[in-house]
Amino acid sequence: MEVTNVTEYQAIAKEKLPKMVYDYYASGAEDQWTLEENRNAFSRILFRPRILIDVSKIDMTTTILGFKISMPIMIAPTAMQKMAHPEGEYATARAASAAGTIMTLSSWATSSVEEVASTGPGIRFFQLYVYKDRNVVAQLVRRAERAGFKAIALTVDTPRLGRREADIKNRFTLPPFLTLKNFEGLDLGKMDEANDSGLASYVSGQIDRTLSWKDVKWLQTITTMPILVKGVITAEDTRLAIQAGAAGIIVSNHGARQLDYVPATISALEEVVKAAQGRVPVFLDGGVRRGTDVFKALALGASGIFIGRPVVFSLAAEGEAGVRKVLQMLRDEFELTMALSGCTSLREITRDHIVTEWDAPRARPGPRL
Ligand code: FNR
Repeated sequence: MEVTNVTEYQAIAKEKLPKMVYDYYASGAEDQWTLEENRNAFSRILFRPRILIDVSKIDMTTTILGFKISMPIMIAPTAMQKMAHPEGEYATARAASAAGTIMTLSSWATSSVEEVASTGPGIRFFQLYVYKDRNVVAQLVRRAERAGFKAIALTVDTPRLGRREADIKNRFTLPPFLTLKNFEGLDLGKMDEANDSGLASYVSGQIDRTLSWKDVKWLQTITTMPILVKGVITAEDTRLAIQAGAAGIIVSNHGARQLDYVPATISALEEVVKAAQGRVPVFLDGGVRRGTDVFKALALGASGIFIGRPVVFSLAAEGEAGVRKVLQMLRDEFELTMALSGCTSLREITRDHIVTEWDAPRARPGPRL
């Protein structure tokens, strides 16, 4: 049957993938409350569309950190894409480039920064996990820069791995025919089997739990690439990130895979946008599955959104064609949402086009006395 929306790829991926792989992609942390809430919170935001506006031409283009892209829909870093499809990150890179948008490559990709760069032109960001061994980090950042990556997305919500119980039950580990390609030459590319999640053990062995704001400054001494801080969900940390030199903020709860019972990202977005005061762009990821979700995020002040799971699920189902289709479906839905809301460019999307549960009730005529 024809796939007509992004969510449908999840069931197809579930049928196709080994259980260990599907569970790793799909899971959230602990009770998975935040996982559901990332979706549910979007459904509580409603539209206030405007009518009788000429919407015969709609411009969805935007500029992110100086780079012009076709739409405010980008690809979040998701690890180990070759578990989904043999072409893995190559397919994702090609699909992003064909759609005229940005791909973020995970530190834990099963293809290296150089390999992804070799797929052809495209605007790409590199997601960084900071290892205890800072020489490893410095080398990797330099390699990404040399390979033409344009920004670093520094993930700050993972000093330890969240408790993903399916991965513990499955004794999740990277299949033996794959490696974390960026670390292969450094002898850090393999993941040992463990008595729980192999990834959780890898993180506790390699990732630097001491990471702090001073390291955001340190990173700026080793690269000229702008740094996006990924994983901010409070006003306090927004101000600190800007003070520390962040070029942008990604409101993210890691796809609900880290701390459970944090709010949905769409619920945290406006607090961050207000604290940023327009000094740096604010982006969002988490639960975006519809063009209407993209519109809601922009109405709340986001400059763009990133998608995670839809990429790995569509990759598992149909490889590069699947990822292309996901980007196209979101693009078409977003364009339709703009048209039906009376917006012809991203600038015209305003806070008044939506209503949230935290808005004061609109003025109603008082009781007649
Ligand atoms: C992730 N995410 C992630 N984030 C990161 O900074 N580095 C990484 O390597 C990964 N890997 C990863 C793997 C998988 C399977 C998932 C689902 C997620 C988090 C990701 O970048 C993003 O924050 C969320 O996926 C966004 O939520 P949705 O779109 O998946 O709901």
